Amino acid sequence: MYYSIILCLIVSFIFVLLLKKNPKRSIKGKHVVITGGSSGIGKAMAILAAQQGAHVSLLARNLEKLEEARTEVKKHIISEEQIISRVSVDVSHREAVENNILELETTVGPIYMLVNCAGFAVCGKLEDISDSNIKRLIDVNYLGTLYPTKAVLPRFKERHEGIIVLTSSQVGLMGMFGYSVYSSCKFALRGLAESLNMEVKPFNISITLALPPDTDTPGFDNENQTKPVETKLISEVAGLYQPETVAKKIMENALEGQFFSYLGFESFLLTTLCVGMSPYKSILGVLLQAVILGPFRLIAAFYLKYFDCIILKVSKNNQ
Ligand SMILES: NC(=O)c1ccc[n+]([C@@H]2O[C@H](COP(=O)([O-])OP(=O)(O)OC[C@H]3O[C@@H](n4cnc5c(N)ncnc54)[C@H](OP(=O)(O)O)[C@@H]3O)[C@@H](O)[C@H]2O)c1
Repeated sequence: MYYSIILCLIVSFIFVLLLKKNPKRSIKGKHVVITGGSSGIGKAMAILAAQQGAHVSLLARNLEKLEEARTEVKKHIISEEQIISRVSVDVSHREAVENNILELETTVGPIYMLVNCAGFAVCGKLEDISDSNIKRLIDVNYLGTLYPTKAVLPRFKERHEGIIVLTSSQVGLMGMFGYSVYSSCKFALRGLAESLNMEVKPFNISITLALPPDTDTPGFDNENQTKPVETKLISEVAGLYQPETVAKKIMENALEGQFFSYLGFESFLLTTLCVGMSPYKSILGVLLQAVILGPFRLIAAFYLKYFDCIILKVSKNNQ
């Protein structure tokens, strides 16, 4: 009896520690730059930043969309002093990105947080994706994240503070039918995030790798137009989320300095399975992963078999 009570207390203590939130940093009065801030997840992040009192700079190409987004984001400011600016730039153009980031540092103020959200997906079997699309996917999704990140780093290091978000995807952790090129670009972001995390840790800079699930955005609508039927059927296993919900989770995790940001059970399963040598914040989190990794692998094997069956069935129907 005595031992059971002690055991219960220890288990409850571990659960309390596991559920305990990390202290959050504040972006009130700070400058937040968001690439891809004119639409979808990026725009939802911008609205959240405005609601939290930050100066927000939106980066994207289309000026009209940027202006519309700026008007929308402005409605959410909590102080007249907040500056909401927008810059038309292609994130895959290194020099333009560097110049604009430098200019924003002087016109709006020192950048505290960079959210890399610009990106797009083209699906299809590898042999069906054009060379120009392959190059564009790499340029925008990979280099378009690396360039803004590289541009803010020197000043983040000088100031000994900063938050960087890299937006990958669930297919940045697992390969999937129809995503060969997009998925490899998003996988590359994980390597970038993990390496960078080691480099910037002594400078009090945090890196968050966001792994959004399918999210109802204009980008997702475009992506659906190129999705093979196999990809659609496999994707249906997980649900569709709203950009506001996804952005809220990314913002929360980034301000807490979490390395991964994910949402929903499938993402939890996948992130735990693929945790590998990724950074950790709590030893209790590591212990939990050590215990559940084995059973999760069994669940993953079931999912993989199910995906194979879908692909085989579609292939037979097409013959
Ligand atoms: N939606 C999903 O289901 C989902 C799931 C996982 C990951 N993601 C990732 O989340 C991020 C945001 O996706 P989303 O669905 O919110 O997309 P979205 O609605 O299409 O928004 C994309 C944003 O990026 C900008 N952009 C695209 N190419 C650019 C370029 N070359 N230079 C500068 N800006 C560029 C777009 O504006 P302009 O076109 O005007 O430049 C727009 O503001 C992407 O990295 C995407 O890969 C999305």
